[in-house]
Amino acid sequence: MSVLKADHISIQFGGLRAVNDFSLDLQEKELYSIIGPNGAGKTTVFNMLTGIYQPTEGSIYIDGKLMAGCKPYQFTAAGLARTFQNIRLFHGATVLDNVKMAHSFKTDYNFFNMLTRTGKYHSEERRITEKSMELLEMFDLQDKKDFFANNLPYGEQRKLEIVRALATEPKVILLDEPAAGMNPNEIDDVVNLILRVQKELGKAILVIEHHMKMVMKIAEYIKVLDFGETISEGTPEKVQNDPKVIEAYLGGHANASRS
Ligand SMILES: Nc1ncnc2c1ncn2[C@@H]1O[C@H](COP(=O)(O)OP(=O)(O)O)[C@@H](O)[C@H]1O
Ligand SMILES: [Mg+2]
Repeated sequence: MSVLKADHISIQFGGLRAVNDFSLDLQEKELYSIIGPNGAGKTTVFNMLTGIYQPTEGSIYIDGKLMAGCKPYQFTAAGLARTFQNIRLFHGATVLDNVKMAHSFKTDYNFFNMLTRTGKYHSEERRITEKSMELLEMFDLQDKKDFFANNLPYGEQRKLEIVRALATEPKVILLDEPAAGMNPNEIDDVVNLILRVQKELGKAILVIEHHMKMVMKIAEYIKVLDFGETISEGTPEKVQNDPKVIEAYLGGHANASRS
């Protein structure tokens, strides 16, 4: 069953066609990747898939539901969660509270329950804390639950972002360069975690990466963007050996501003 579908989406910023005619059909529990040089349009695709930008043309469906005109929170409610290329945590809040805040998006206690602290509020609060701790344990962050987010090492802040995205209980999770700025050990760790999120939590995953090596190990299917166009797609083996992909990464038009 299709959980995330982009049907021929394009977007224009003034004179720049940042993404042209992009399509994708992600089924339950699949792991796809979008790769391409800097400036190729990868993050712009995510921004369209999560309701931040409205495509100029084409349609997006989550779980078969047409999302035209919907706001980002409606994309979240429909089952989509994402991380950003640049870390976006509540730095002055604890690790646990960062996760609980994301969880509470899906809870069914209302503002009145919260003010009056009814029994329902307390049982809901307990449930959220337990669920948050389960995710923190999976990511080996449980011992740091009371740390302020900004006191975590960089690699753990990136992991906490993934935990926060998972806390909204999505069907699909979109990761924008999850390994950016990480050292090789941290990259291996995050690669294993992404695979566990797919296999153990049963999520469909879409990963953006600038570096090909990481996704070659985990992606089942890859779309390659360059200057907003899909220049290649298929299995890692196919894409890796496609002369057009090699050219985009190593070839003539790669200049300083895109490196
Ligand atoms: N809001 C915007 N307004 C104008 N141009 C934009 C906007 N967002 C992205 N772009 C342009 O779209 C192109 C693709 O950017 P981006 O999607 O961030 O690339 P990538 O994530 O592949 O590195 C770039 O040329 C970028 O400057
Ligand atoms: Mg980007």
